[in-house]
Amino acid sequence: MTDSKSQQDPKSQVEAARKAFDEEFERFARLRDASAVSLSVTDAETEQRALADFRTRHLGKKSALSACKKLIGKVAPDQRAAFGQLVQQTEAEITERIAETDDHLDSLVQAARSQRERIDVTLPGRRPRRGHIHPITKLRERIEDIFVSLGYAIEDDREIETDFYNFDALNIPENHPARTPQDTFYTTNGFALRSQTSTVQIHAMQRRGAPLRMIAPGRVFRRDTPDPTHNPMFFQVEGLCVDRGITMAHLKGTVAEFLRRMFGADTVTRFRPSYFPFTEPSAEFDFSCFKCGGKGCRICKQSGWIELGGSGMVHPNVLRIAGVDPEIYSGFAFGLGIDRMCALMYGLDDIRLLFENDVRFLEQFD
Ligand code: FA5
Repeated sequence: MTDSKSQQDPKSQVEAARKAFDEEFERFARLRDASAVSLSVTDAETEQRALADFRTRHLGKKSALSACKKLIGKVAPDQRAAFGQLVQQTEAEITERIAETDDHLDSLVQAARSQRERIDVTLPGRRPRRGHIHPITKLRERIEDIFVSLGYAIEDDREIETDFYNFDALNIPENHPARTPQDTFYTTNGFALRSQTSTVQIHAMQRRGAPLRMIAPGRVFRRDTPDPTHNPMFFQVEGLCVDRGITMAHLKGTVAEFLRRMFGADTVTRFRPSYFPFTEPSAEFDFSCFKCGGKGCRICKQSGWIELGGSGMVHPNVLRIAGVDPEIYSGFAFGLGIDRMCALMYGLDDIRLLFENDVRFLEQFD
């Protein structure tokens, strides 16, 4: 307290304290205006902090009012009660007005918060970005649907194989080039990544015996250098039908029906003699170009035909090694590559696009 203040008459000191409060309180009083309702949460919280400081300044230990309280004992005894009452009343009024303002600010903060967090439940929801099935998977599912409707089961099997399933059981001789590390990915301990889904023929016959009808879609691996028609990892679908009296006619009928369902009723299929160690006789099959109908175009490289895969009658050695008696049963098998088929169907000129995982490319197949 300054000397001039202490020399002031105590009553005017209370009045001065009251006046200072009133003047400064103006700024909080305006918060009661309607415009204050639009305060943001941050602004309302800032005002609350300012009010707390203001309270300390006018009611705290170092406030003018607190100094007045200390004067109560010093005023003349006959004026003491009246002075005491004045101080108390002033303090009570200030306390109440600050408390009221604080409550009011509280409700402004609450209002601003609920305004900020308000959800209009009538607005349409934000649609999450949905992915879609990869074109290879789409094609695989279409192939599966066709064969399931022809009575075929779907087999899924391992991608890492022993030499037995990769080669021996498929009648692939000891010195065959497919066995070399130039063609096959070997892991340690004599395992290798399967280079064709034909390995599933053996597992399926061992597990189910004959008769049997199955397809096995899956991933295969070859040490091929990537180029527009080759990938070191690609997809094949194997087909196998074993029963009494199965002939080449069943093979041709089944493949032709599959391709008609896949590419349209007018699709024509042709078989060309070929060689695979695990089938005898063996044939590769082509189908009439779905784009030009056989006249010749860019897709079929003007030949009118599109190569699709290999096939043949299951070699008796393969049946025998898988536990099926070739004297009783015969069977046909075929295998085709899905990636190249996919490229043909969608007019892609490079199968590597399918695994670059560029979303701009993939989202075209929704
Ligand atoms: C085979 O893999 C035989 N297992 C098919 C078979 C099954 C014959 C049953 C007889 C009985 P081939 O090596 O031709 O055959 O491969 C079949 C298909 O795989 C090819 O027509 C081609 O579409 C696809 N293909 C082969 N190599 C690659 C590669 N590096 N990248 C993408 N596709 C490939």
